[in-house]
Amino acid sequence: MSEEETVPFLVANKKELIEAKRTSITVGDRVIVVIHHQGVFYAMDAHCYHAGGSLLNGDIEEIDNKLCIVCPKHKYKISLAEGEGIYNASNPKDKDKPPCWLSKGIKQRVHKVTEVDGNIYVTLSKTPGWIESDYYQTEKGRAELKKAKDSDTDKSATS
Ligand code: FES
Repeated sequence: MSEEETVPFLVANKKELIEAKRTSITVGDRVIVVIHHQGVFYAMDAHCYHAGGSLLNGDIEEIDNKLCIVCPKHKYKISLAEGEGIYNASNPKDKDKPPCWLSKGIKQRVHKVTEVDGNIYVTLSKTPGWIESDYYQTEKGRAELKKAKDSDTDKSATS
């Protein structure tokens, strides 16, 4: 990560972002989604850690007191504030135990959002180590996204 990618990056005017609700931006070469929900801004990697689905249009649900974005592709749930993968755990062999929500840990890299003079800035996360959504920032991950996009384009062209 270059030094300029770790300084606050101007996304847009706050009013514009509130109206848009969701905005996709590229900081350095990282694609980020900025979300405004219930008066709070969130930013996270735009491609879901599971298989690269775009989170731009994911529904937001409150799950176990955490606001989560639901990936449109396979419905994985990711907490907006922390990037935790949340899943519903149930044991089919133990019917007496009700299902409960558990965390898989941090799976999606989230970024810091700040407001200065009516403008919204994103500072890329410096959390060290590998977070699964980092995969889509690698050459291999990007190639996979491009292949999936090309395949979707081919399908829509033939239908
Ligand atoms: S790609 Fe997001 S749930 Fe599978």
